[in-house]
Amino acid sequence: MPGLKVRDLHTYYGTSHILFDVSLEIEDRSTVCLLGRNGAGKTTTLKSIMGLATPRSGAILLDDLEIGGKSPVDIARLGVGYVPEERIIFPDLTVRENLEVGEKTAPSYVVERWSVDAIYGLFPMLEALDGRVGAYLSGGEQQMLSIGRTLMGNPSLLLLDEPVEGLAPAVVSALSTQINRLKKMGLTILFSEQNLAFSEAIADRVFIIESGRIKYEGTFADLNADAGLKHRYLAVG
Ligand SMILES: Nc1ncnc2c1ncn2[C@@H]1O[C@H](COP(=O)(O)OP(=O)(O)O)[C@@H](O)[C@H]1O
Ligand SMILES: [Mg+2]
Repeated sequence: MPGLKVRDLHTYYGTSHILFDVSLEIEDRSTVCLLGRNGAGKTTTLKSIMGLATPRSGAILLDDLEIGGKSPVDIARLGVGYVPEERIIFPDLTVRENLEVGEKTAPSYVVERWSVDAIYGLFPMLEALDGRVGAYLSGGEQQMLSIGRTLMGNPSLLLLDEPVEGLAPAVVSALSTQINRLKKMGLTILFSEQNLAFSEAIADRVFIIESGRIKYEGTFADLNADAGLKHRYLAVG
């Protein structure tokens, strides 16, 4: 089964050793959550996959192709889309222009399924804001735009770093529905999160990271049955 395989990653920032033996396996078309408290190593893991942090050792296989050591641009061309936790959008460009910036020449084997209209179909709230500049969007609207812009690159694997952090409950609920739609469309999704409730609504499997090490891999049912585990490694429960 293709998908994403991360094996024994060790990542450093300078001399600080941050990730230890991180291994993840994400089946093609599945949705997996990387859960962990602040500072656990979630962002560093996603950045390592995207080529934004350079692992010192380990392997990253996308559909059995080694992508470890490639540049972020090359990794994006191979079909990986990354939505950083900072939700970077262009404040002076309109919603539509922000989406158009995300459109890039996709390799010929990638189905170009996303257009501005398709993004508006997924996020109707953005259509109503078509001509508004990025600076005047709410946090939730910025997050939808940030995801929309990444989708415009037609990724097959989507990496979302804490997609609902700091957002109002109504927006969290909308995003959970929208991410579930992406999942049904056949995208493979890896997202990071601190809390269980949102993750459980969309992910098939969960990995828990703490102090740069994977402490748990499994289903939510097994995790929920283990109060000690939740208490040790998560912000809730
Ligand atoms: N650029 C950096 N330089 C040095 N240490 C960093 C840097 N970024 C993050 N760290 C450290 O790496 C650890 C993991 O951080 P991070 O991956 O951002 O965690 P999370 O996303 O789970 O909150 C933390 O101890 C953090 O302080
Ligand atoms: Mg983070």
